[in-house]
Amino acid sequence: MKKNILVIGAGSGIGRALFELLNTLPEFRAFGISRRGIPFQKTQMIDSGVNYKCDLTNEKEIVSFFEFYQHSFKDIHAIYLCQGDGLFGNISSLSKDSIEKHFSLNIISSFLVLQKFYSLVRNSTDSPFVCFLSSTAGKIGFPESTAYCASKHAVAGLAKSLREEWKKDKIRIFTVYPGAISTEIWDNREGFDQKDMISPEEFAEYLKSFLYLPGSINLDESYVLPMKGIL
Ligand SMILES: NC(=O)c1ccc[n+]([C@@H]2O[C@H](COP(=O)([O-])OP(=O)(O)OC[C@H]3O[C@@H](n4cnc5c(N)ncnc54)[C@H](OP(=O)(O)O)[C@@H]3O)[C@@H](O)[C@H]2O)c1
Repeated sequence: MKKNILVIGAGSGIGRALFELLNTLPEFRAFGISRRGIPFQKTQMIDSGVNYKCDLTNEKEIVSFFEFYQHSFKDIHAIYLCQGDGLFGNISSLSKDSIEKHFSLNIISSFLVLQKFYSLVRNSTDSPFVCFLSSTAGKIGFPESTAYCASKHAVAGLAKSLREEWKKDKIRIFTVYPGAISTEIWDNREGFDQKDMISPEEFAEYLKSFLYLPGSINLDESYVLPMKGIL
């Protein structure tokens, strides 16, 4: 039996690299969502290997995708939450609107996705899991990064609480705190060399390996840095 895997934020960067890698593995059916995905009709059957269109800051679009998915499948083995953006600059420069948009994508969207898909993850009988991407910015503080550090600490808090809340359902919760991965999130940020970073393809190999862990293992937290450490 093939296992169903959902990659949230499969349009670029880490999510896309993971999604493309999963699509090469015959034992899994991977589904993606992001803004640049392909539009769908709720009454259609869902196809694996496709990144579907969904703006995660719009609750109605999350609900539509859930109904579309549920039309074809009643379980999910793993959800990787790879959506997110950066919001940087000194605290006085951040508008209320930009902070709200950032939190809507980086943290609220995870609540909404997990509220909808909870029953389908619970239906999986083979040690299902949810993988969150926090950040080094979810462990320590960086200057000019108040919004990003706050949203990434929030991701870690959500994950830690859910770890306790869903253990009764045998749903595993993994939280990864990556250091620098060379994706678009670093575009226009001065003082960083992408050569010092982990490539998204290599990082995707690490995330893929979770699918092969024995079901008795909950990899609560992993801190994954490039050789230079924190850049
Ligand atoms: N790169 C790093 O060094 C690093 C380090 C630590 C943690 N992280 C975390 O890893 C995650 C992925 O980052 P990344 O580096 O891969 O960045 P990225 O290349 O910018 O990827 C962001 C992903 O989110 C999707 N997305 C953005 N806005 C969306 C929206 N409104 N609705 C639906 N999808 C949306 C994008 O696809 P579309 O554009 O198609 O919507 C894309 O798939 C983020 O949570 C980030 O904080 C990254």
